[in-house]
Amino acid sequence: MQPADQIPDKMMARRSFESAAAAYDQAAALQQEIGQRLLQRLDLVKIQPERILDLGSGTGQCIPDLFARYKKAQVVALDIALPMLEHARKRGRWLRRPRCVCGDAESLPFADSSFDLVFSNLMLQWCVELEVVFAELQRVLRPGGLLLFTSFGPDTLGELRGSWQQVDGYSHVNAFLDMHDVGDALVRMRFADPVMDVERLTVTYPDVWKLMRELKQIGAHNVTAGRPRGLTGKTRMQRLVGAYEHYRSNGVLPASYEIVNGHAWSTGNECGISLESITR
Ligand SMILES: C[S@@+](CC[C@H](N)C(=O)[O-])C[C@H]1O[C@@H](n2cnc3c(N)ncnc32)[C@H](O)[C@@H]1O
Repeated sequence: MQPADQIPDKMMARRSFESAAAAYDQAAALQQEIGQRLLQRLDLVKIQPERILDLGSGTGQCIPDLFARYKKAQVVALDIALPMLEHARKRGRWLRRPRCVCGDAESLPFADSSFDLVFSNLMLQWCVELEVVFAELQRVLRPGGLLLFTSFGPDTLGELRGSWQQVDGYSHVNAFLDMHDVGDALVRMRFADPVMDVERLTVTYPDVWKLMRELKQIGAHNVTAGRPRGLTGKTRMQRLVGAYEHYRSNGVLPASYEIVNGHAWSTGNECGISLESITR
């Protein structure tokens, strides 16, 4: 369980992705790259899903590939931010368009055993209670169905986190769950044969402003409960720029990303969550 000040504020995350929808695709090169790598992992599993859920689909950038891989499958795109789905619904061609559903991964509006595959690229880190999401996925996947996902790990944006640490004591960067915690949550929610691994990517920027702009453009604001309230003043921003300069190497500033990859199989077992386990 995450410390209280690191829990994401879901409504704030939703608002931030709603405002980012129009510009998301132009700034989401990293998300696209990670999505492509996740799709390639489907080469390794022999499945013929008929119903696929793209969970936290955003603008649906992975949907054309899902249609291309599984020629007979129906794809449902679910996202908490409606404007994202307005882009997602245009993916695919002719009769092969996704069905778009605005909803919350922690309370899915689907019947039990509705899907053969749940695909989720970079959405889980925005959820408040991972076990609740996994319990929902266990429920909506048919027994033997596959869950395949990516999320960000705790080393993500370590340089930005470290630089802010030197400026003030606030959590300016979202907190991300460790691969082992995600794997343990899958086991607790009775998924079978979970496999987890981590990849590391570094993106470089000419300056910290470009990084901050890009994060804003994709809607990745700091939405933790412990975030600083109010505007960030000019002096603090200048101190941030100075602190981040310590990471400059070969003329550029690095931003590290730790990508947590996971897959597991639904067992169809009900996994009731006790109220005590989710109340703080
Ligand atoms: C970083 S974007 C990734 C979008 C897409 N999967 C991609 O590969 O580009 C995260 C998406 O998750 C959605 N999201 C965040 N929290 C959610 C929740 N609780 N339920 C459903 N969607 C959520 C956001 O609205 C956003 O579109």
